[in-house]
Amino acid sequence: MIGVFDSGIGGVTVLRELIRILPNEDYLYYSDTINNPYGDKTNEEIINISDDIVNKLINMGCKIIVIACNTASAISKEYLRNKYNVPIIAIEPAYKSVNDESTLVMATKATINSDKFKILFNTYDNHKTILLSCSGLADLIEEGNKDKIINYLEDKIGKYKGVKNVVLGCTHYPLIKEEITKVLGPVNFYDGSVGVSKHTKEVLEEKNLLSNNTGKITFIDSSNNKEKEDLFYKLLEE
Ligand code: DGL
Repeated sequence: MIGVFDSGIGGVTVLRELIRILPNEDYLYYSDTINNPYGDKTNEEIINISDDIVNKLINMGCKIIVIACNTASAISKEYLRNKYNVPIIAIEPAYKSVNDESTLVMATKATINSDKFKILFNTYDNHKTILLSCSGLADLIEEGNKDKIINYLEDKIGKYKGVKNVVLGCTHYPLIKEEITKVLGPVNFYDGSVGVSKHTKEVLEEKNLLSNNTGKITFIDSSNNKEKEDLFYKLLEE
């Protein structure tokens, strides 16, 4: 079983790719709604939360963990890798794939301010990039109110109309591509879900851990929210 977690249902955008690339694996998805959002928390809080979840997932039998959250990945992947023996796969904003064109990177405050993202940014900086921390956006996506999302985006990114690339540096954001396009017009989107899924497959192959299961999906929400579960399955099928 592959353990996948995020601060809510955003990581479904990663799970979809994982299932496409690894259909014969069973998945345990942990949606940590009770601690959402991660993006405005301190590093210490994010590490403690991630540690608890990984511990739970391993105790439930997960052979590998995919952190389907850019924030938790940026802040806690090293700590988790040092502590646990199971492979820990971490997503990162797909910044290295952007071309030499104007680029808007949207991510949480914790991701944008993280040392890990700074290294990635400095390595691939195309000097035409705007970094934008989008506090509160993941919350609105969890809430699912399209009008509020559009208002937020108009206010926050409306001024960047004409930008060519948008890096979706939070796993919730691929769920609002349509709304972003409404505000910015046509743009090229980049997100890390394909990269992290391919990497998961490589690690499973390398460690001889591939399964031939039925592709069963188990969903757990830390606040036992039934609406989240329904929304999760709806998004998974889309
Ligand atoms: N989905 C998360 C990410 O990829 C975090 C959203 C949040 O909880 O702030 O960064």
